[in-house]
Amino acid sequence: MDSQHGMWSSRTVFVLAAAGSAVGLGNIWRFPYVAGENGGGAFVLVYLACIFLIGIPIMASEILIGRAGRQSPINSVRTLSAGSGANPLWQAVGWMGALAGFMILSFYAVIAGWVLSYVLQLGAGTYNGADAEFASNAFSDFIGNVWSVVGCYTVFMALTIFITARGVGRGLEVAVKYLMPTLFFLLIVLVIYAAVTSGHFMEGIAFLFSFDVEKLTWNSVLIAMGQAFFTLSLGMGAIMAYGAYMPKDVSIIGTATTVALMDTAVALMSGLIIFPLVFANGLESSGGPGLMFITLPLAFGQMSGGQFFGCVFFILVTFAAITSAISLVEPAVAWIVERMKVSRVSAALIVGGFVWILGLGSAFSSNIWADVYIVGNMTFLDTMDYVSNNIILPLGGILIALFAGWVVDKKIRDEQMAADLLYYPVWQVLTRFVAPIAVSIVFLMTFLNG
Ligand code: PHE
Repeated sequence: MDSQHGMWSSRTVFVLAAAGSAVGLGNIWRFPYVAGENGGGAFVLVYLACIFLIGIPIMASEILIGRAGRQSPINSVRTLSAGSGANPLWQAVGWMGALAGFMILSFYAVIAGWVLSYVLQLGAGTYNGADAEFASNAFSDFIGNVWSVVGCYTVFMALTIFITARGVGRGLEVAVKYLMPTLFFLLIVLVIYAAVTSGHFMEGIAFLFSFDVEKLTWNSVLIAMGQAFFTLSLGMGAIMAYGAYMPKDVSIIGTATTVALMDTAVALMSGLIIFPLVFANGLESSGGPGLMFITLPLAFGQMSGGQFFGCVFFILVTFAAITSAISLVEPAVAWIVERMKVSRVSAALIVGGFVWILGLGSAFSSNIWADVYIVGNMTFLDTMDYVSNNIILPLGGILIALFAGWVVDKKIRDEQMAADLLYYPVWQVLTRFVAPIAVSIVFLMTFLNG
């Protein structure tokens, strides 16, 4: 049976699409700065453990559910629970995921808008020869201007909706096929640049990989886990939606592992670019969301050909963000198409409209609403980010793991895992026990420790 929304033409295309979803701002923008805020090494270790012990099994679970259901996450879960004689309430997993997708995209697109403006700024040579102070001020000035932020945000949303409306097969496939390898290549060039010129490469490595467990709090463990979910696009149905378009007979666990390894490589490379530059320029490793926007333009401003490469680099980051953004709306768009029998274009516009309105709150968070705190000292943007990544995604992840591991009929599971006989038992242990228990412990300890 094929999905009504179309199918990926091969395993490679699925890997590219899933990697396109996984690799994005989460790797290049968010990973370095949350690692920096949480002290580096020990945080990175927890993050890596989460990727392998929780992330890969849950990614496999999502693909399994999607491919067995061949519909939007909401309807795939519904069909499978009916077919397995389970409680229809399981479809709440799909609903929660669609909600998380809205929340995440609403701030994701704002940050992607910042990236878009950096394409123009770097292209115009604004940072040629700039120093750290100039770069920090330019960043605060930009995010402080409500019109430029909303403008760039709107352009990014429009691009996302446009591509989504055209359908995943046309356009996207081409973009991922050529742009991702180019991004990878430029990242390697930048790692070499940071290694050779910063003079602080070892310091960067030490910061990322020296495991000083003392620095770890339960809240930073929660954040490391949330980052693992976010960066792999897990817990909200993005990968499930893509799994619905995956050819049958392809190995699920093998594919999930490939995607996770690519994603991890990009995150670590970004860290290896950013931290040496942070130390070389006397910046704070705990500099927060501005870290990438301050260090990279600075580096490009000082390297020869930096105006060109900087501009190209930010264009590629924009594409990485778009290929993630479209996977954030796919679950909701596919559901609307199935449910309301409207075209993809209308579905994409409906979702895009809602998200755009919600996202204004995040667009205002660095300017007119900079002093409006929603929870604790978190702005609207921070709150959306914290709640969706650290709470909704891991919670969705537990439910997905339990659903795939215990609820889905054994026959369906065996059939889906037919190409994965070797690792199938390992996956089962991780999905049934390790992932749900680990996530629950982290939730509980964070809660108990306030
Ligand atoms: N994984 C994407 C990134 O790292 C973000 C994302 C999260 C995409 C959840 C889809 C679902 O940028």
